[in-house]
Amino acid sequence: MNVSPQQFSFLCDFLKRRTGVMLDQTKAYLIEARLLPVMRQRNLADLATLADRLRTGRDTVLEQDVLNAMMTHETSFFRDKSPFETLKLLIPTLVKQRAVARHLVIWSAASSSGQEVYSLAMLLQEHFRDLLAGWKIRLIATDFSEPVLARARAGVYSELEISRGLSPELRAKYFTPLQGRWSIVQDCRRGVEFRQINLTGAWPAMPPCDIVFLRNVMIYFDVPTRAAILAKMHALVRSDGALFLGGAETMLGVTDTWQRVEGSGCSYYRPKPMPKR
Ligand SMILES: C[S@@+](CC[C@H](N)C(=O)[O-])C[C@H]1O[C@@H](n2cnc3c(N)ncnc32)[C@H](O)[C@@H]1O
Repeated sequence: MNVSPQQFSFLCDFLKRRTGVMLDQTKAYLIEARLLPVMRQRNLADLATLADRLRTGRDTVLEQDVLNAMMTHETSFFRDKSPFETLKLLIPTLVKQRAVARHLVIWSAASSSGQEVYSLAMLLQEHFRDLLAGWKIRLIATDFSEPVLARARAGVYSELEISRGLSPELRAKYFTPLQGRWSIVQDCRRGVEFRQINLTGAWPAMPPCDIVFLRNVMIYFDVPTRAAILAKMHALVRSDGALFLGGAETMLGVTDTWQRVEGSGCSYYRPKPMPKR
């Protein structure tokens, strides 16, 4: 299957308008590989037929299938390690600061199939079970893509997925075998909420957040889109909270409304106070 420049630009424009995700010309091979299963499933002869169907604007299921297929959902448990190490050091301070409310909100935005939010749940169980006993902990996992959210809700992973980022000890402690796969234990599912949120669309009401993981998604957006998302995050992340971006992501050249703080092998961001008008 060959993607013509016109088809490529139509599909890229469709993806950008709906999700903010940008693909460059070097990613034409991705479109071919990712859309082939969608076309096969629907018996669509070629990309031109698929594009025509999308242009009608009437097949919303096909639209979602195409968007989900074109996005990258790559993730793993404890991805990049250092944000989790940094969070481990941050939590005792946060616990002191929230000693009266005894309430923490942690948001994994663009959580993909759940490895990130369950890593956070495991970290809390593993290191802060006693310290946080009796606390209300809200772990919120959101993504644009319903199919990956469904996988996250199920919390069942293949041998390969479980082998990426998890020590044998953590696997034995937090997963149970299930028909050749691995299911996350109830202790780590409890308190996790899954919601569909398009970061580039209108957000539903969100609670003020203590910690936000917004990792490995901004890399796909242009600068104005990143700036708009960070402005909304600014209003949500508490002044003594923390926002983590991915290892290849930065606020440089995007916004100066956040304070960069050095952590353990990575940095995180705190909202600077907004000047009074
Ligand atoms: C590469 S994964 C990153 C997963 C995880 N945060 C990590 O670092 O391992 C990017 C995720 O962003 C999601 N995504 C892309 N555009 C989005 C948007 N506009 N709103 C919400 N999620 C989006 C994709 O569906 C995908 O699951």
